[in-house]
Amino acid sequence: MSESKFQPKSKIVQWIEYRLPIFSLMHAAVGPGYPTPKNLNYWWNFGSLAGLVLVVQIITGIVLAMHYTPTADLAFASVEHIMRDVNYGWLLRYVHANGGSMFFIVVYIHIFRGLYYGSYKAPRELLWMLGVVILLLMMATAFMGYVLPWGQMSFWGATVITSMFGAIPFIGDAILAFLWGDFAVGNATLNRFFSLHYLLPFVIVGVVILHMWALHQHGSNNPLGIDTKGPQDKVPFHPYYTAKDAFGVTVFIMFFAAMVFYEPNLLGHPDNYIPADRLSTPGHIVPEWYYLPFYAILRAITFDISIPGTNIVIITAKLAGVILMLGSILVLFLLPWLDFSKVRSATFRPLYKQIYWLLVIDVIVLGYVGAQKPEGILPTVGLIATAYYFIHFLVLMPIISKVEKPKPLPESISNPVIKAAE
Ligand code: HEM
Repeated sequence: MSESKFQPKSKIVQWIEYRLPIFSLMHAAVGPGYPTPKNLNYWWNFGSLAGLVLVVQIITGIVLAMHYTPTADLAFASVEHIMRDVNYGWLLRYVHANGGSMFFIVVYIHIFRGLYYGSYKAPRELLWMLGVVILLLMMATAFMGYVLPWGQMSFWGATVITSMFGAIPFIGDAILAFLWGDFAVGNATLNRFFSLHYLLPFVIVGVVILHMWALHQHGSNNPLGIDTKGPQDKVPFHPYYTAKDAFGVTVFIMFFAAMVFYEPNLLGHPDNYIPADRLSTPGHIVPEWYYLPFYAILRAITFDISIPGTNIVIITAKLAGVILMLGSILVLFLLPWLDFSKVRSATFRPLYKQIYWLLVIDVIVLGYVGAQKPEGILPTVGLIATAYYFIHFLVLMPIISKVEKPKPLPESISNPVIKAAE
């Protein structure tokens, strides 16, 4: 299928197009003028779903902000006011709060799809790295958003996580004062978190535009991980993938709606319905589910690291946790170079496929450990799972890239597709 040229019939579209070629841009980006590999499976639906959730979060967030008060005295009450008095305020809030979780579900699947099919490899390294930037921005945004209802978990979660920065030598205290705007989490902190929580989603939109730009430079990867050879390997994005994405959106909205209408508090913590109280620490402080694997990594090191044979501590347990947690995301930036196998898709990489699934299990184990109190065998399990996480990326990936013998690749995308149809 060859790339179709945009020739508008409507006089109005022609008039606009002559002055602002926005319709031809759409035609080339998500229309009949964008040739797309014809073998994409449903795992390729999650990028458009992430875009949808981002829009939903921004719209519901803007309306929530019209009724929310970002001061420590009134924040909790204003959220209750939204839930009880504002027309459909409960719906807005539940959509926004569950939307945060949906965003992470969708984006984690999107990332693991990329890991399986080698979408981070040349020539899509920058596309991947922009994705990691989006992930970092999402984490910061969601963290600050969770503080806004000013419940017990908001307050104590903010206290635990921001205090991590105090472990950084020399400048830790200055960073803390800068984050808090005070000598502890308080009104000034809530104020700046509100401001940044409103701002960052628009920064995310900016990075998503770059992400899309980089995507369109070389087009999508595909489940076979081989380059497209010619028009016979592609179909126009519209109507084929607009229809497929619309189907994905429909299924996803059903799932999202089921959460919002039947189990709106399933992923939340009951303690966040208690107003923040700096004199009463909750028995067990846990972050939202999507941070749990990282929280386990943060708590993995339970001992100070000192020069052997002396008592001189070089890295405190707390600082080691902070370094590992940041490292667990930063290592993703290096992925395109840590894995230098020429074959992208795990379908043709027998060894890589196995460690891929081990990584999935490892992250689930980390998530479980992150949710529990650090008692009994769990700190050891957390330490081993953390070590495995880094071994996966820093040791196994490079070694496997070198020693693995991949299965033979199909000649082109159309070959296996035609064979399957015969
Ligand atoms: C707001 C969050 C995000 C949005 C809206 C978004 C959007 C998209 C869209 C629409 C696509 C094309 C469709 C698809 O391949 O599913 C895509 C592709 C891609 N995204 Fe994202 N993305 C986001 C976050 C991320 C993150 C966090 C990463 C990785 C860390 C990432 C890595 C990639 C890669 C590697 C591709 C190319 C996939 C391929 O062609 O096989 N994205 N993204």
